[in-house]
Amino acid sequence: MRSHWCGELRASDVGKQVTLNGWVHRRRDHGGVIFLDLRDREGVTQVVLHPQEQPEAYGIAEAVRSEYVLGITGVVRARIPGAENPKMVTGEIEVAAEAIEIFAKAQTPPFQIEDRIEVKEETRLKYRYIDLRRPEMQRGLKMRHEVIKAIRDFFDGEQFIEVETPMLNKSTPEGARDYLVPSRLQPGSFFALQQSPQLFKQLLMVAGLDRYYQVVRCFRDEDPRADRQPDFTQLDMEVSFADEAEVRRLTEQMFVSIMQRTLGVAIETPFPQMTYDEALDTYGSDKPDLRFGLPMVDLTKVFAGTGVQMFQNALSKGGAVKGLRVPTGAGFSRKEFEALVGVAKTYGAGGMAWILYGSGGATGPLTKALSAEEVEGVKQVSGALEGDAVLIVCDALRVAQRSLGEVRLALAAKLGLRPELAPTDPESWKFLWVIDAPMVEWNPKENRWDPTHHPFTAPHDTDVDLIETDPGAVRSRAYDAVLNGSEVAGGSIRIHDPQMQRKVFGLIGIDEEKAERMFGWFVDAYNYGAPPHGGIAAGVDRIVAMLAGKDNIREVMAFPKSSAMTDLMTGAPDIVDQSLLDDLHVKVVVPPPD
Ligand code: AMO
Repeated sequence: MRSHWCGELRASDVGKQVTLNGWVHRRRDHGGVIFLDLRDREGVTQVVLHPQEQPEAYGIAEAVRSEYVLGITGVVRARIPGAENPKMVTGEIEVAAEAIEIFAKAQTPPFQIEDRIEVKEETRLKYRYIDLRRPEMQRGLKMRHEVIKAIRDFFDGEQFIEVETPMLNKSTPEGARDYLVPSRLQPGSFFALQQSPQLFKQLLMVAGLDRYYQVVRCFRDEDPRADRQPDFTQLDMEVSFADEAEVRRLTEQMFVSIMQRTLGVAIETPFPQMTYDEALDTYGSDKPDLRFGLPMVDLTKVFAGTGVQMFQNALSKGGAVKGLRVPTGAGFSRKEFEALVGVAKTYGAGGMAWILYGSGGATGPLTKALSAEEVEGVKQVSGALEGDAVLIVCDALRVAQRSLGEVRLALAAKLGLRPELAPTDPESWKFLWVIDAPMVEWNPKENRWDPTHHPFTAPHDTDVDLIETDPGAVRSRAYDAVLNGSEVAGGSIRIHDPQMQRKVFGLIGIDEEKAERMFGWFVDAYNYGAPPHGGIAAGVDRIVAMLAGKDNIREVMAFPKSSAMTDLMTGAPDIVDQSLLDDLHVKVVVPPPD
């Protein structure tokens, strides 16, 4: 129905007869002359109507309001000198309308179709189709399209085959809670929506596909966070006869292609690598943000013979003391330190101490209890200068690392160390591989070993003997890609030997009978010739959000769930008719309100 997009016409089109379709972005009545800004997804064009020139079209335009949907036919002409708008790409021209058709009327929208709006997110989500009319939202969706296209083109060029896997699956433990779907034909039985295509992609390797990828929806019933949605999109891939270096190379090249095609940025490869232990020890995180420094130091030796009771207790239980130098921290108030202590406590630390290295010597709440050697030792090891402070957490190693790691992030925000994103500057994009995560981690609540990634991750050959003697020390052949402090992809080389797979199930508390029931169908396949293989999955929503400069992945999803994991537009999840439940043999027991 159209000859041009609303963002398309330029001075070189003057004199052309055109037809535009779109929404009335704005209507202005200038003493007898009506101006309509007509908007479609590609931009806005000014349409002008004179009562004398086109009385019929003018008459229709008089009734037109914001967000009416119109078709306009007319002639492109240059704006009169002085009326050009250099801020609009179509600002040199306007269309003198000869005919207008109203396709649809519209009520006043609940908010303006503008980039800078101050509207509650609930309202935006409820009227998502209006929110998506905003240019900023459309840019996000276009970026998403470009990222997915770059991914598909890249893997296609590397001889990968896209294969779809089932969404209705058997429930298997994969880290998050499953979404269940009751079966009508098998009363009492449930499908689980796939958390990822992990086992199917491995079976595609057994099937000889060799190079598989898929842009795939995954479902996880997790607690809400800015970078999590219950249904989200992965780029999932798997390769046979490949080691970790090859999977990492392919992943890096995929990112090179995405960054080049969406932002025109040439990022450097190979990405730097850091072991999981190093990442936690230095940055207190398995996804360190390397856009700023603030490394942590180990102060355990400084406090080895300490007289501070609290520290003695933690150290006698095998704990550690971690320190973080705060540049200019000697100028912080007690209140500012207390706020940082709050962060440490939120992440599990019993407390946090601090020493101020001011011009008059060391001060701070703990300083009196410390020996002169300890005060000096902290200064030496942390590299603190006069005017700095040092934050200190003594606790179980992982607690000390992780809580001080979160304090590091809060401190970077406070000190303004996190640079403004300059999307076209390669320096804005700090990629990193975190490798060699432990195969299992102790779960004190359940009293068992849990897989750090998933139970199909292979151990390093040299660590296999430790599975029996020191499971926590077994390093896995896993690799996570981190970008600016966010985990954007995770994968590993897999176990492909049925004996080893059973051994790992045993280690994480899945006994033989349970392993057979849950995974027998999978491990069986390994008896028919499984190639060595490995792969990775990348979080598409997270990547797009970062490229678009957004803090929340909702901003780059067309119809996301709210922070309460509900769909505010449709009202899902919702109660259903009793007859549907009867068909499914499902009985609902609603808990009493809190
Ligand atoms: P993993 O669980 O690490 O690996 O997931 C891969 C990537 O998916 C993204 N992601 C999410 N994004 C949005 N919302 C969520 N709820 C969510 N959960 C995960 C992250 C993450 O890095 N099967 C393995 C991959 C493999 O071993 O090949 C897997 O799913 O960016």
